[in-house]
Amino acid sequence: MSDFRVPTLTRRAFLASAAAVSTGAMFPPQSHARAAGIREFRLRAGPGRAQIAPDPHGETAIWCYDGKLPGPEIRVRQGERLRIAVENALDEETTVHWHGVRVPNGMDGVPHLTQVPIAPGDTFTYEFEAVDAGTFWYHPHHRSFEQVGRGLYGPLIVEEANPVRVDRDVTWVLSDWRLTKTAEMREDFGNRHDMMHNGRVGNTVTINGRVPDVVPVRKGERVRLRLINAANARIFGLDFGDHEPTVIALDGQPVEPHAPEGGLVVLGPAMRADIIFDMTAEAGSRVSVIDRFYKDLEYRLVDLAYGDQPLRQTALDWPALLPPNPLPEPDLASAIRHEVTFNGGMMGAMVMQEMGGSMGDTGEDSAGAMGGMMGDMMNMMHSGGIWFINGVAAEGHIMDPMLTLARDKSHVIAMTNATAWHHPIHLHGHSFRVISRNGKPTRLREWQDTVLMSPRERVEIAFVADNPGDWMLHCHILEHQAAGMMGVFRVA
Ligand code: C2O
Ligand code: CU
Repeated sequence: MSDFRVPTLTRRAFLASAAAVSTGAMFPPQSHARAAGIREFRLRAGPGRAQIAPDPHGETAIWCYDGKLPGPEIRVRQGERLRIAVENALDEETTVHWHGVRVPNGMDGVPHLTQVPIAPGDTFTYEFEAVDAGTFWYHPHHRSFEQVGRGLYGPLIVEEANPVRVDRDVTWVLSDWRLTKTAEMREDFGNRHDMMHNGRVGNTVTINGRVPDVVPVRKGERVRLRLINAANARIFGLDFGDHEPTVIALDGQPVEPHAPEGGLVVLGPAMRADIIFDMTAEAGSRVSVIDRFYKDLEYRLVDLAYGDQPLRQTALDWPALLPPNPLPEPDLASAIRHEVTFNGGMMGAMVMQEMGGSMGDTGEDSAGAMGGMMGDMMNMMHSGGIWFINGVAAEGHIMDPMLTLARDKSHVIAMTNATAWHHPIHLHGHSFRVISRNGKPTRLREWQDTVLMSPRERVEIAFVADNPGDWMLHCHILEHQAAGMMGVFRVA
């Protein structure tokens, strides 16, 4: 089990530019779109092939966007409108979810809940405004444990009007595959063992769709590295050796620049981190980037290979602070409180019993409530549910809302992970502040759209529910989501 301790660099140099674009209203009606600000894109979801494993292995059959792995990087300026026509060339239905982007409900890509799924051969056009600058990504929300697992995902980058100054702006889409010895896809998607344990953790890790070897860098160089975890289930804990990366954004949202806790950049599935990465080692040297998340399963992700010619000798003093996004600040004094408890999985009954006595801070007899909930869950487990939110296992995307949040009001959701496993919990349509962990206020009150919860951990999040509609709340370990760990909250 895990122990939570805590590229292809080809893009042209990306420097600050002054071409400001007005950000406009948060969720303007479509008729207000300024023609000049609309950016049109096309994406085609379909089968493809990719050189995932290194030579002498051949290509692997995958599903992907536009024949590319990852899908094409969609890159716009903050405040621009995107119009993206998605064509479905798969043999099954699909949708696209713009993960982390605060889109209007009808553009959120949740099958049946927010749209009719895109049938094979059909096209659906999404349109929304890039209200927040930052690092986002897109992926299907229909049978995502298989569609994402086969390679359907891509980065969506929204540039600030005045980005931080760096030499290069680089995106690493991290992923993880379960391949056979001959580099074919293992076809065991959605098997019960993965669902009950930590999901489809694979055996082959890629950066931008390839098993990486070395990444060329130069001494003195400053890179903005945008990390995106697109894996179904693998959690990363990246150690950059003697480098001292500075985290400047989490899940696309600016954060007070800081050194990662314990020196590890930790990313659960769907999570992103932007780091300012100064190349401080000697010219001609090599430094390994090691993934240390799973205890005793550390491995070298990639080597940074320093060229012989330094770019500069002096340390940089360019500021690393990003401008804030237009997020409404929750008012904790008046916030309405809600409780959400996650249960189930292997060893779930044991954890519930163990935590039953310690969950009484709402003043109710929670041990008794937990006992009742457990009986219900036992029944549901026999009918196929494995994971539960507030005692209910989802069977599809259409459900009665588990929470109704008064619109434009501040809300605190106190979440309890009463399981023996990690869960990256994602809310649609909103970013939230992570305000406490196990009763202790967080130091940075970071904005996230996906928060990684450790086994038995309690986390409080706070936000203003300003985006009306029915939205998903789910674990982003896609096998957990498929096995019930999903619910709907309504903003009305
Ligand atoms: Cu990244 Cu509900 O999704
Ligand atoms: Cu989970």
